[in-house]
Amino acid sequence: MLCHVCPWWLAYTFDNPLRRLMQNPAKILPPYVKPGMTVMDIGCGMGIFSIGAAKIVGDEGLVIAVDLQQKILDVLRKRARRVGVAHRIRTHCCGADSLGVDEPVDFVCAFNMVHEVTNSRNLLEEVHSCLKPGGKFLVSEPSFHVSAKTFQETLDTAEQVGFELDETPRIRNSRSAVLLK
Ligand SMILES: C[S@@+](CC[C@H](N)C(=O)[O-])C[C@H]1O[C@@H](n2cnc3c(N)ncnc32)[C@H](O)[C@@H]1O
Repeated sequence: MLCHVCPWWLAYTFDNPLRRLMQNPAKILPPYVKPGMTVMDIGCGMGIFSIGAAKIVGDEGLVIAVDLQQKILDVLRKRARRVGVAHRIRTHCCGADSLGVDEPVDFVCAFNMVHEVTNSRNLLEEVHSCLKPGGKFLVSEPSFHVSAKTFQETLDTAEQVGFELDETPRIRNSRSAVLLK
């Protein structure tokens, strides 16, 4: 396991009542995620946002939940089954250097993961190429861990690979931006 990637067991702590009070998928996602959409959640962890998106996309939609740790994806699948949305989620175990998803998607989210990626330019390029024209990418980083300067560097790189900054939503305890293809 790469040393900057959070250990799989720690991911159990990322979905709890306090987190949902501050970062509730049912409040954050609806402006961007609609029924029937294909959504990709990268660095999905145990699925707080994948499951939230699956509840919105409905049976005509799909969520591709991508992570590099299979153990984490196994827990996500169990959690999704428990709330009846597993059939709307495809889990995908990726490599550290590539997401390896090449189908077109309408919306991508990345919560608290970009700072764990060694080559964020590659990641941004890959996300850009997966998104349909007009598709959006919500990137959200923990403000206690990622400085304003580092987040701005990510946004600058995103612009260099072809994204436009669409908005900077207020999501508590985070630095967040919606990027438009
Ligand atoms: C801090 S956790 C965040 C999990 C979830 N998005 C959340 O907000 O609760 C970061 C996740 O990103 C994953 N990750 C790290 N590097 C990755 C990469 N290069 N590609 C895909 N996933 C990655 C880790 O395995 C971990 O599950």
